[in-house]
Amino acid sequence: MSTFQAPTGTRDVVAPESARFAAVVGRFAERARLAGFGLVVSPMFEDVAVFRRTAGEESDVVKDEMYEFDDKGGRRLALRPEGTASVVRAFVQHRPPVPWKAWYVTPAFRYERPQAGRYRQHHQVGVELLGTPDPAADVECIGLLAGFLHACGIHRFELKVNSMGDANCMPGYKATLVDYLSAHEGELCEEHRARWRRNPLRVLDCKKPACATVRERAPRLSGALCDPCRHHFDAVLSGLDALGLAWRQDDTLVRGFDYYTRTTFELGSLALDAAQNALGGGGRYDGLAEQLGGPATPGVGFGCGIERVLLAAAAEGALSEVTGRVDAFVIDLSGGAGALELTSRLRAAGISADRAFDGRSLKAQLKAADRSGARLACIVGPDELAAGTVTVRVLTGQQAGQQETIDREALVGRGKELLAVAGRPAGGTP
Ligand code: HAM
Repeated sequence: MSTFQAPTGTRDVVAPESARFAAVVGRFAERARLAGFGLVVSPMFEDVAVFRRTAGEESDVVKDEMYEFDDKGGRRLALRPEGTASVVRAFVQHRPPVPWKAWYVTPAFRYERPQAGRYRQHHQVGVELLGTPDPAADVECIGLLAGFLHACGIHRFELKVNSMGDANCMPGYKATLVDYLSAHEGELCEEHRARWRRNPLRVLDCKKPACATVRERAPRLSGALCDPCRHHFDAVLSGLDALGLAWRQDDTLVRGFDYYTRTTFELGSLALDAAQNALGGGGRYDGLAEQLGGPATPGVGFGCGIERVLLAAAAEGALSEVTGRVDAFVIDLSGGAGALELTSRLRAAGISADRAFDGRSLKAQLKAADRSGARLACIVGPDELAAGTVTVRVLTGQQAGQQETIDREALVGRGKELLAVAGRPAGGTP
């Protein structure tokens, strides 16, 4: 055993799983690009106030889970626990024209109790769309998330939606909730019995059975929406219908951050355990830019956990075709010149290719080719090198063992034909 291990709650993502990780990011990048979102890359740490002010002092993330530290200059910083605050901080700092459509891929750090699907460093892909209150923007985000999951081969999920109201109707709802909770204080879980007054909405989000029971009879958020919020929410729901996305309204979906206004949503996998089944979630945060000192700017977005996507994909048998295996393996018995030329030729044509090093024997190189999972072996010895030919051997599938010697110029064309028969597209990882 090595002396050092990855810290508790973190893990190394290595091949072949990392090929699926990369494919998930690639598919998200493509969907985001197709919808007009541009990549934003911002620092992994921020002034701790950025997160305190946005997520809220009473959120679990800020209260218990943030990785905070002082740097050598005495600045109080925190590793980002989520992506939204940094993106909105960047928006306020740079003031790009609106609507501003940003997507990101980022690690996120939360000091949580580690378990399957819950890590202290997880990774998210997400989008933020700033500058419009239009419910069509909410629908665009939700549609993007659902479309991305389908693109990953994940189809068994449920979409929950809710509206949190706004500064007009939310205070009234909170007051009603406070009255209700005062009468039921003793029935709350231990933590919320002590803390519920500081942010009563957190009780709606609490996973403990005691709070769940109290919640069942609590006044409903949906009944408290003002007309503009109700119309906004109805428009979101109609948009989802128009997209053909099934949804379920969940009054208790207040989510874990204080910044949400109006729409909230979550896509939960039906193939994973309930405790860790949220694949992605988000919502509207119309006051957030102002909270960070910017102009009043509505916004909406979501984050989606890559680890959860990989778990759901595995549970649904999806992404199994993404192996990271190369298409071809060059076996060189000519002293190295053949491998150099052929791998370059194949790679330039979009056929992934690997090779052995250290001038090993034919047997050792064949073994390496097998281990690589390559479908084709391209063998070049001194005779082939002199004659300008290469021997191509099929390593896997029904034609395994079939072998032909061809002109080196024909390698790319013939290689593609043989790979097409095998059903694996040239390039390996889609
Ligand atoms: P969130 O729901 O806290 O939202 O996280 C988004 C997703 O990240 C979750 O649905 C889940 O898949 C994944 N995730 C969260 N925590 C962990 C963990 N400890 N281990 C593994 N996966 C995890 C946000 O972060 C908001 N910023 C989303 C948003 C964007 N709202 C508006 N814009």
